[in-house]
Amino acid sequence: PASTAHVSPGRLAVGGVPLDEVAEQYGTPVYVLDEQEVRDRCRAYLRDFPGAEVLYAAKAFLCRAMVHWVAEEGLGLDVCSAGELDLAVVTGFPPERIVLHGNAKSPDELRTALRLGVGRIVIDSSSEIARLAAIVPAGTRQKVLVRIAPGIAAGGHTKIRTGTADQKFGLSVTDGSAQHAVARILHQPGLELVGLHCHLGSQITAVRPYLAAVRRLVGLMARIREQHGTTLTQLDLGGGHGIAYRPGDDALDVPALARAIRAELADSCAAAGIPVPRLTVEPGRAVVGPAGIALYRVLAVKRTEGTTFVAVDGGMSDNPRPALYGVRYAPRLIGRPSTAATATVTVVGRHCEAGDILASDVELPGDVHPGDLLAVPVAGAYHLSMASGYNLVGRPPVVAVTQARPRLLVRRESPDDVRRRDIGL
Ligand code: LLP
Repeated sequence: PASTAHVSPGRLAVGGVPLDEVAEQYGTPVYVLDEQEVRDRCRAYLRDFPGAEVLYAAKAFLCRAMVHWVAEEGLGLDVCSAGELDLAVVTGFPPERIVLHGNAKSPDELRTALRLGVGRIVIDSSSEIARLAAIVPAGTRQKVLVRIAPGIAAGGHTKIRTGTADQKFGLSVTDGSAQHAVARILHQPGLELVGLHCHLGSQITAVRPYLAAVRRLVGLMARIREQHGTTLTQLDLGGGHGIAYRPGDDALDVPALARAIRAELADSCAAAGIPVPRLTVEPGRAVVGPAGIALYRVLAVKRTEGTTFVAVDGGMSDNPRPALYGVRYAPRLIGRPSTAATATVTVVGRHCEAGDILASDVELPGDVHPGDLLAVPVAGAYHLSMASGYNLVGRPPVVAVTQARPRLLVRRESPDDVRRRDIGL
């Protein structure tokens, strides 16, 4: 992850830059992104999925540099809000390579999408069909996909499972709402139905659920062709490719996934008698997660009732994932060598609640003390994009490392930033 390397005993570097130097220069907490790692991961996806379309899922993490890197590497972009869309387009991302998602897009978001010329919009509810159709400029057609809830349970935690029939995303095939939506879209002159979409969930480590999704969606495509004479040309299987957060954790084998999907798609389409649609995948976490690393300063070490708490200067406001999903990380001491025997400790944040735990029962050198630096690897996805303003501590900055040089991409949120939005008295 984040191509870390030891530069001298106890000193860890990303892309040739010692992390303790980054912490000194930019303060803590700070998030470090390895640009080369992001680019390499984009390239690996294009290699693994030849001929397919790869969209980076912006919700994992977005900033203007990220928009540039993804654009330059030839990926498309999956956005799910006007905010993500605006940042991408203002930064110069080609709008036709953008796909807009969302189970509750506002009329304003839909208008913005049309105005900016978004390539495709993924329809997620039947009420959205008329709302969108009503605002498409006369004489033009907006390309759309329909999001299907295929009734497949997969994903690392119930809160991030989106393939089952009993959750808020997509339209179900079993109760007929997907078929109904397809028929309605086909009757709208302003909408061009180009394909089906599904996203099973996140942090999936097995190939099999994706193959089940291919079979179900191809089956539906065949029925649509039979009933309506319409041949859909795109199949978007979403993202969700699982990564390892700790050494030894399971991860999805993406090249194996790509090969298996290709074979399943060929077989299913041949059996159903339909042409093979173009495949789209939407990885977010697998592109940026391992390329990021979070650095914290230890502020207090305390032994209470047999537990050693190591408290750092960040926490659930920059990484809510342990509190939300029980995710486990592997923090490590950086910046100095230690020969002390390891001790089992719980790394906690600085926020005002007991659930603000970053990593419970992890092994760190027994001499960890205030002033030390801790690094939390695999911090690139869904940390800062889900960061909050809790306790008004201010969101951490993002520093990119490129060709052995650090540079600030996003500055630290200051008390001034916080005050600026607060305009009433
Ligand atoms: N496509 C769609 C339509 C999605 O909803 C998502 C993620 C992705 C692609 C990308 O999924 P990825 O490859 O990054 O797993 N906050 C949670 C993850 C929620 C993901 C929501 N949708 C977490 O921290 O694990």
